[in-house]
Order: sequence, then structure tokens, then C-alpha cells
Amino acid sequence: MIVKLLQMALKAPIVKLNNGLEMPMVGLGTYARKAEPGEYQQAVEWAIDAGYKHIDTASCYKNEEEVGQGIYNKIKEGIVTRDQLFVTTKLWNDCHAENDVTPSLKESLRRLKLDYVDLYLIHWPVSINAKGEDQEIDYVETWRGMEEALSMGLTKSIGVSNFNEEQLQRILNSAKVKPVVNQVEINPNLTQHKLVDYCKKNSIQPVAYTPLGLISDARPEFAGKDMIKSDPKLGALADKYGKTRAQIALRYLVQREIVVLPKSFTKSRIIDNLNIFDFELNKQEMALVDSFNMDHRCVPGASFAKYKNYAF
Ligand SMILES: NC(=O)c1ccc[n+]([C@@H]2O[C@H](COP(=O)([O-])OP(=O)(O)OC[C@H]3O[C@@H](n4cnc5c(N)ncnc54)[C@H](OP(=O)(O)O)[C@@H]3O)[C@@H](O)[C@H]2O)c1
Repeated sequence: MIVKLLQMALKAPIVKLNNGLEMPMVGLGTYARKAEPGEYQQAVEWAIDAGYKHIDTASCYKNEEEVGQGIYNKIKEGIVTRDQLFVTTKLWNDCHAENDVTPSLKESLRRLKLDYVDLYLIHWPVSINAKGEDQEIDYVETWRGMEEALSMGLTKSIGVSNFNEEQLQRILNSAKVKPVVNQVEINPNLTQHKLVDYCKKNSIQPVAYTPLGLISDARPEFAGKDMIKSDPKLGALADKYGKTRAQIALRYLVQREIVVLPKSFTKSRIIDNLNIFDFELNKQEMALVDSFNMDHRCVPGASFAKYKNYAF
């Protein structure tokens, strides 16, 4: 009996999107600056074994083949069925013309070996051609292409990423179909209360990328500039629940009803990042995590700052 209990997969609660689709509150992030061959696939397989039902990728991550292979293998093994999974991919900045959206999604589906994704996102509001020139395509036009891809059944829902409030409002003003999510950076160093409130008021689900922010080892350039890794009160809070600082950060976000997408290539961390639903932070503890806000972006998209539709 004990062995059986230990083998049970972890499970994330779901949120209902504005089109009725259910999205698990923890998804595996899959972006890496550098990866060894097979690393993405291995992470996806570990994640599905651990109980993840939600995977986030993008055409620009150049990993859709491996992510798709991991999904394919786990479906073949009978660990999950396709309809239990929530798979997101994203349109890159060089395919923003209305007529480029559907062909781009078809290419992603081919690489992923899937008939449909659950969510397709405009990755950034900027449109840039292969030569790096600003195409100045209005993302409202791109959105019409997204609506067409949706109507063809290639994706179950459509949304945006890295959009600010004004840009979301412009989409809402003319859209036939509302975006279901805005995927943006949110973490204890960038709490984004105003944008999150705006999204919720408009039934757009906030999804947090880079949810670990400065807690992550991936950001040594910020070492010493922030207390989140060393603050004794946060350490005591983690100890109180027998969790790590990373798990406290993720728990803080899901308690704000924000979906989180932690990325890890480490099996134990993949498991840890889903293991955040057996404790609850109280009001003072939520305020403590909130107090680490510095409005600091780990992902400013600085190389896009010169383009017309840059959001930050
Ligand atoms: N829409 C967008 O523009 C956008 C932008 C950025 C990211 N994203 C998405 O969001 C995902 C997550 O963002 P991210 O990868 O930038 O940041 P993140 O998930 O906050 O941090 C990832 C880093 O944290 C480490 N880590 C993971 N779990 C940990 C734990 N429990 N304790 C300590 N360290 C831990 C990982 O190391 P190991 O891998 O070595 O374990 C990795 O170096 C991406 O993978 C991608 O899917 C989207």
C-alpha cells in the first residue's frame, strides 16, 4: 500500500479558460539557451511520468521535434492520452502576416507530431523579418490569422504573450475570439499586480513564465543584487513547510491564481516544481513573498526594444 502511494503521480489543479477549456496550473517550461541532444525529450518524459499534463514550447525554441517525441513516447507507453495533455506552442515574430499564421502552426504541428495544440500564442507583439527589419505588422492583423487557425481546428484556443494592457485592449476591441491567456514574466521579483488584475478583469488567464525569477541558478549575473536567495525570513518560511525557496515562489503564484511554467532539466526539480499543492501560504506569508518585488525583468526582450510594437 505504502509503495503504491509513493508511486502515485502528482497532479496540478486546473483553471478554466474563457472558452471552457481546462488548463493545468503547472506546466513544464522547455526553453533553454543551450541543451544537449535529447535533453528536452528527457525532461518532457520525466515530467509526464511525474504527473505533468501541461507542456509549453515555441517554434523559436527549436525543440518542438524533441518535445513532440517525448509526448509521443509517453502516449505510446500508455502513461497519458492526448486528450489529457495541454500542449502550447507559439508563433514567431517573422510570421505575423495574417496569411503566415496557419502555415506556421501547421509546421509546428508537423514537428510536434500532433494534429492540434491546445493553445497557440503570439509570442511577442513585434514583427521582424528574417533580416531583422521591423515589419510593423499590426498584431490586430496577426490576431485575425490566429482566429483562422482556430476555426480550422489546428488549435483549441488562442492567446498572446508579452502583451501590455494597451495592446490587449486593442485586441479585445476588434477580436471575434478573445485571447484566453497572456503569458508574461511574473515572479517574486516582478509581481505584475496591475497587469494581472487587468487580465483577470477581462477573463484573460495570466500565465507566468520565468516563475522562479532571481531564485533560479540560471541567473548568476544577478547574484547579490537581491535578497531572495538569502533572506532568513524566506528561508524560515521554506523550512516551516519543508519546501525549497523555489517551491515557495511557485506556490505564491498559484495562490494568486496564476498558472506557472517552471523549466527544469533536473529530474528531482521537475518533481519538486509540481509538488506544491500540499501546503498553503497565509496572508502574511503571501505578503512576505510579495515584498521581494523590484519590478525587475529577467527577460526584458531587450533586443526587441527598437521595434515598433515592443511592449515594455
Ligand atoms: N513567452 C515568452 O516570451 C517566454 C519567455 C521566457 C520563458 N518562457 C517559458 O517559460 C519557461 C520558464 O521560464 P525560464 O526557463 O526562463 O525560467 P524558470 O523556469 O523560472 O527558471 C529555469 C531555471 O531554474 C532552474 N530551476 C528549475 N527548477 C528549480 C528548482 N526547483 N530549484 C532551483 N532551480 C530550479 C533550472 O535549472 P535546471 O534546468 O538545471 O534544473 C533553470 O536554470 C520557459 O522554459 C519557457 O517555456 C516563455
